[in-house]
Amino acid sequence: MNKKPVIIAPSVLACDFLRVGDECTRIERAGADWLHLDVMDGHFVDNLSFGPAVVESIARIAEVPLDVHLMIERADHFYRRFTPHVDNVTIHIEPSYDVAATLKAIRAEGCTAGLAISPPTGFDRIEPYLDQIDLLLVMTVNPGFGGQAFRPETMAKVERAAQIRSERKLDFHIEVDGGINPETAAIAQQHGANVMVAGTNIFRATDPVRAIHSLRG
Ligand code: DX5
Ligand code: ZN
Repeated sequence: MNKKPVIIAPSVLACDFLRVGDECTRIERAGADWLHLDVMDGHFVDNLSFGPAVVESIARIAEVPLDVHLMIERADHFYRRFTPHVDNVTIHIEPSYDVAATLKAIRAEGCTAGLAISPPTGFDRIEPYLDQIDLLLVMTVNPGFGGQAFRPETMAKVERAAQIRSERKLDFHIEVDGGINPETAAIAQQHGANVMVAGTNIFRATDPVRAIHSLRG
């Protein structure tokens, strides 16, 4: 069993956008390992967030690795607007672009490549790509909005991914995103996930140091 260290990746989507730089610094100082940046296009998901300009500005001040989650229809076109500024770029399996070519191109630009799967999508869709990724993002809510409830049925995908990873001697991170709190983080870790994305639970906490600590299990 590939036991990876737990990584806490607070989702900037839950910050006060009037003070986004200060918010990132505040949460880094509270012990964040990475910062998770949710990019939405109003097509793939029914919401809009921020794009390359904001990501580039955050990259100028960030001291921890940046993990971009592209919830957009044309990740094959837009990935290159993010790769110069960040460490990991995750694309979704659901839109119709060449997934293998996009993952390869992200790596060629010097980033690690992640692949995300939404709750309604079957695991079979991502299985062929598991040897081409550095991170698998198992969405634990339907993508688009912070503050939703964790869906426990998604844990079957985490478990299957962890099993395949060990059988095939692969090394990708397993990240969970959506409704992560101390209780659901513990569940996700028991099933084999090691990267915990949490928005509301960290940015809105009265004591973010404690909030981050309590997600480590
Ligand atoms: C949802 C985003 C998440 C979101 C998580 O589509 O991908 O990263 O910010 O928010 P919480 O932790 O509040 O569920
Ligand atoms: Zn996300």
